[in-house]
Amino acid sequence: MFKFTKLKYLNNLNKSLGSNNEVLKNISRSLKTTSTKHFTNDEIKTSKYTTFEEMTAIRRIEAQKSLLVQVNSENSHKELCSYCSQFGKLKSSFYYNLSEELNFILLEFDEISGCNEALRSSSFNEDNPAIPVISPFLWFKARDTNKPKSVNQNKEMPHLIHQTIKCLDENKLYDILSSAESIDDQILILHRLTQLNDLGLRIRYLAGHQLEMALNGMFPNIQACLFGSSVNGFGKLGCDLDLILRLNDNYKTISGSRLIYHTKMSRLNGRSQTQRQMEVIGDLMHIFLPAINNVRKILNARVPIIKYNHECLDLDIDFSMSNMTGFYMSELLYLYGEIDERVRPLVFCLRKWASLVGLTNSSTPGRWITNFSLTVMVLFFLQNIKKPILPSMSVLIKSATPNDIRVTEDNINCTFLRDLNKLSFKTENVESLHHLLLQFFEFYSTFNFQQNGISLIEGRPITKPDHSAIWITNPLEPLLNVSKNVSYEELEKLKMETRNAAWILESTIEKNKDPSSWGLMSLFQSKKRIVKPEMFFKSRLVDVTDLFKDDSIKDYDKISYKNTAIKSTVKQIQKTTQREISKFMKNI
Ligand code: CTP
Ligand code: MG
Repeated sequence: MFKFTKLKYLNNLNKSLGSNNEVLKNISRSLKTTSTKHFTNDEIKTSKYTTFEEMTAIRRIEAQKSLLVQVNSENSHKELCSYCSQFGKLKSSFYYNLSEELNFILLEFDEISGCNEALRSSSFNEDNPAIPVISPFLWFKARDTNKPKSVNQNKEMPHLIHQTIKCLDENKLYDILSSAESIDDQILILHRLTQLNDLGLRIRYLAGHQLEMALNGMFPNIQACLFGSSVNGFGKLGCDLDLILRLNDNYKTISGSRLIYHTKMSRLNGRSQTQRQMEVIGDLMHIFLPAINNVRKILNARVPIIKYNHECLDLDIDFSMSNMTGFYMSELLYLYGEIDERVRPLVFCLRKWASLVGLTNSSTPGRWITNFSLTVMVLFFLQNIKKPILPSMSVLIKSATPNDIRVTEDNINCTFLRDLNKLSFKTENVESLHHLLLQFFEFYSTFNFQQNGISLIEGRPITKPDHSAIWITNPLEPLLNVSKNVSYEELEKLKMETRNAAWILESTIEKNKDPSSWGLMSLFQSKKRIVKPEMFFKSRLVDVTDLFKDDSIKDYDKISYKNTAIKSTVKQIQKTTQREISKFMKNI
């Protein structure tokens, strides 16, 4: 019976990591001290199920209570806490560094008032002629040795938590994965070690808070809404931050008030107005806001965006000012990730696989599938297996209550059930992650992309409405295809890679002779071992050495296949390749 209790999860990790060297044991130790739940806030732990809105509200308040202070080294912790405790009680502190010189402590006060008091008492650098701007990003000046030490030395201070904001080194990750006990453990470990951690979330909400703080004087209702993988539960360490800056949400009309603000009407239409506003805000950020670098405006895109880099947070940020559907979409994905504990580890594993075999490339947009589309494909697969693990979206829509009604400024209806405590759907599926992974590859290697489309709303294949290579219905705007960008070549590649992956996963023996190439590692390193389509479609790209190394081809005969479609495809590849080799041999 499949049951993911936290205990089993940690036991698995301990078993898997126990035999490894000291570095790996340290990781294991640090895993034990943190919660396995995605969000570790006290408030979250006490709630049965935390809705996306509740999580967002908690994280926003946390950001309002926090400061990021650049320090000489982590040894400054005691002195910094002792100094800051004069402004209010401290709740938590986190340390990370970006290089030997760039050390940071994120300090959370118990109350917003403590943080505000610290900001009010902070000063500007008198040697620096820059225009003074308030932000939660500060540095801790060395103590004047002539002055006595701070009086608050003996105050209680929070324990300093070390967390990384960067991705784990690939070699280290592979070391850990190779020492796992099973493919299931590998999938769980991969998820645990690469998912965005508590500090990763804190610094992202702090980045949003910086914009709110900077513009609050002029726009009292400003709100930075985080969305995308940073908050939907599918984000990995170091992922980009997507945010929407809202200037006119939460309009408060004070009943009985007779003093009404004069405001300015814009003569521009919606889109041009957004573009102009973004242009101005982009310039403000570029010119005045500390740590914000490399501001690029992409205002002619369907959704105008501004890209920038945050120096202290080592973070790439995309911000827009419209498109609340993106935000509600994140809420939907968050919800699906919460329904079953297998969803996120499976998505992480497939995102990693897709990136390593070259199906996705999140740093550049192109004709390939995006991480977002791939995630929807995984969710759709989980709706379509024999005993579905996820309900169709129509179930979520039908179960919605009046509290769930959301309509965007463009009249897009984003109403669906938010509170999972009210969901009646229960899965009877108890399959392991390993088997689900294999089934995913089998499902898509035989999926009829030519005739069928993918729709989370129906939760089953639909008749494809147009001639795009892949049709994935946008669950919030059903007339749109989220994979419209994907070319036929990329679809072929997807089919080929899913077939390859199914074959590898079926043939991999758990823990074979070579510890570095079993289970997920054999999937992730498949490039080295598998016959690529170009080897027989485009002969000019054939690598001669690949043709003569026919070990992998011989292996095909030894393997038994559960899936007959894969078996026949593999045979076909084998025959074609052998034909190509014979032809090649004749010509030389
Ligand atoms: N989105 C959407 N419709 C699309 C594409 C994106 O609604 N056609 C929304 C989704 O909520 C998505 C978010 O915009 O999560 C951000 O898109 P993107 O950055 O491309 O994807 P992420 O999910 O953030 O994944 P990644 O880690 O690759 O950034
Ligand atoms: Mg993103």
